[in-house]
Amino acid sequence: MDTFVIQGGHRLTGSIAVSGSKNSALPILAVSIMTGEACRFGNIPVLRDIQTQVKILNTLGIETQWKGRDVFTQVKDTYNSTAPYELVKQMRAGVCVLGPLLAARGEATVSLPGGCVIGERPIDLHLRGLQALGAVITLEHGYIHAKAPKGGLKGAEIYLGGKFGSSVLATDNVMCAAAMAKGTTVIECAACEPEVVDLANCLISMGAKITGAGSPRITIQGVKKLTGAAWDVIPDRIETATFLIAGAITRSPITVTGTRPEHLLAVCDVLRQMGVTIERKGTVMKVVPGERPKASEVVTLPYPAFPTDCQAQTMALMAVADGTSTIVERIYPERFMAAAELKRMGAKISVANGQAIIQGVEKLSGAEVMASDLRASAALVIAGLAAEGETRISRVYHIDRGYERIEERLRKLGAKIQRASGADDPAAAAAAAAG
Ligand code: EPZ
Repeated sequence: MDTFVIQGGHRLTGSIAVSGSKNSALPILAVSIMTGEACRFGNIPVLRDIQTQVKILNTLGIETQWKGRDVFTQVKDTYNSTAPYELVKQMRAGVCVLGPLLAARGEATVSLPGGCVIGERPIDLHLRGLQALGAVITLEHGYIHAKAPKGGLKGAEIYLGGKFGSSVLATDNVMCAAAMAKGTTVIECAACEPEVVDLANCLISMGAKITGAGSPRITIQGVKKLTGAAWDVIPDRIETATFLIAGAITRSPITVTGTRPEHLLAVCDVLRQMGVTIERKGTVMKVVPGERPKASEVVTLPYPAFPTDCQAQTMALMAVADGTSTIVERIYPERFMAAAELKRMGAKISVANGQAIIQGVEKLSGAEVMASDLRASAALVIAGLAAEGETRISRVYHIDRGYERIEERLRKLGAKIQRASGADDPAAAAAAAAG
């Protein structure tokens, strides 16, 4: 429904504060299910996806209250343990209530999340891990029905790797279920993402016994009860990278504050290879732009390697680099939605078999383009900031899912970007209204 209108070619200046991590907040809010005590979750970004997760928690009997960037929760009743299709279809991360429900209530009914534009989103690893803990899982009418055995879940040694390696939310689900299972669980080939570590640390603050989070082997000693939480989520490393790349493509010495630079070593390494230096001091990161960026190569892999969630934004930077760059997408091989829209702006990109070849051009030209998924949409904003002339990006509700008021915050850096509300797109209007 809304459209961004960007006048490109302007240098940015100043500093921008990064929000709390969406991908940390989503699973961490779900641990409110695991305790009868009140919780306060802080540094929660005000985003569509977070609001959807809060609605899912409300349907599960959790009372929630926003105060600024804090979300206060309290379990009110446990009559309903079904996370409904109309909410989970909007935000597949709703599946991360599965482990907490099994742990706290011994049963869960969660809509199968289905796929999305970045590719098929299976949950076989989630189910394999929970079954290893003794859960009985049946799939019917588009729902996952999970039930703990009479004596409760039991610890187990679980290999959780799939053909694409580790799984972030599967690790989260199994770690939550194991936190209140009987005995010890070892998760081998666990995801090492900082958001998994944040979840583990939040659970530990509630009395869970977890070691090894951040490594491929996590050990969980089940406990009977968890206390309430008072936890501030980590800064959003993907949003941080998005702003750094916006600075790089406009050759602007912008500063990003409130970051965790140690979460962005792979991204900063690629930027350095492209001739963009990122200075870091404490939690402040500053772009030291070179001249025209140089071509580079990226392969997306599980953390600590280059994150798939920064792939589209980097493609936009490669589109104006000197030389030919390549991207190999090893996590979601079809995740190249940004390419077609960037080509409307003059980019020279060819995509085949999970690879993109990007032949850098001097300048992109503004055009009318359409947002398709969260990170591809961010790539279009980045490209629009550097392109010659005007870029109009429709269906920006995709961006609102993961970036808080991005146009206002970029305007503060001197970007010429406005949000135009318009119902010119019935499909988008219906989708946005549904959401
Ligand atoms: C998380 O999704 C993130 N979302 C995604 O960010 C991110 O792209 C992804 O991890 C990879 O880093 C949240 O944290 C809310 P996975 P998740 O399970 O956990 C395959 C964004 O833009 N797989 O780590 O759902 C899967 O198909 C979003 O913020 C299975 O085969 O991703 C993929 O190829 C998009 N079986 C790979 O593993 C499973 O049971 C990694 O997926 C689960 C996953």
